[in-house]
Amino acid sequence: MIARGQWARAGAVAALAFAFAAAGLAQQSAMQRGNAKFQHSCAPCHGAGVGDDGHAMLPGTDALRIKYKGAAPPVPALLEERTDLTAPVLKVFLRHGSFSMPPFRPTELTDAEIADIAAYIADKAKRAPAPKAKQ
Ligand code: HEC
Repeated sequence: MIARGQWARAGAVAALAFAFAAAGLAQQSAMQRGNAKFQHSCAPCHGAGVGDDGHAMLPGTDALRIKYKGAAPPVPALLEERTDLTAPVLKVFLRHGSFSMPPFRPTELTDAEIADIAAYIADKAKRAPAPKAKQ
């Protein structure tokens, strides 16, 4: 026979497992939301592929490739390979713009969405190959 204490413990373990699973889901969806937002608002300029005209000419990726050419330590041209873009850092660039990149207003991109994008970039950068010395 199972004592009441054991049921209580089993219940507590189940509740804990559920809490961890829920936390995991919340984190996963922050990355998923960030991914969707990134593809919509950033990838047209910061993507890895080709531009609208079929040439490998995406303004963000290209400008950053030129900006950090020969940098030591190397800085990847692709945002999705960068490990230094935390939410506060992204927020500075996004709220103020950067040279030819226009600023984003909070009505266009909320602070929460910036945090989601940062979570997405951090996760993606973890899987990226180590940056090469020359780009
Ligand atoms: C209209 C094109 C365009 C869009 C859209 C755009 N960017 Fe940019 N972004 C640029 C360009 C061009 C630069 C390089 C500016 C420069 O020369 O310093 C840049 C620079 C940056 C930088 C600065 C990196 C550095 O080290 O200097 C960050 C961070 C950045 N973008 C993040 C984003 C994110 C996140 C989004 C989406 C929410 C986004 N950008 C959308 C064009 C764009």
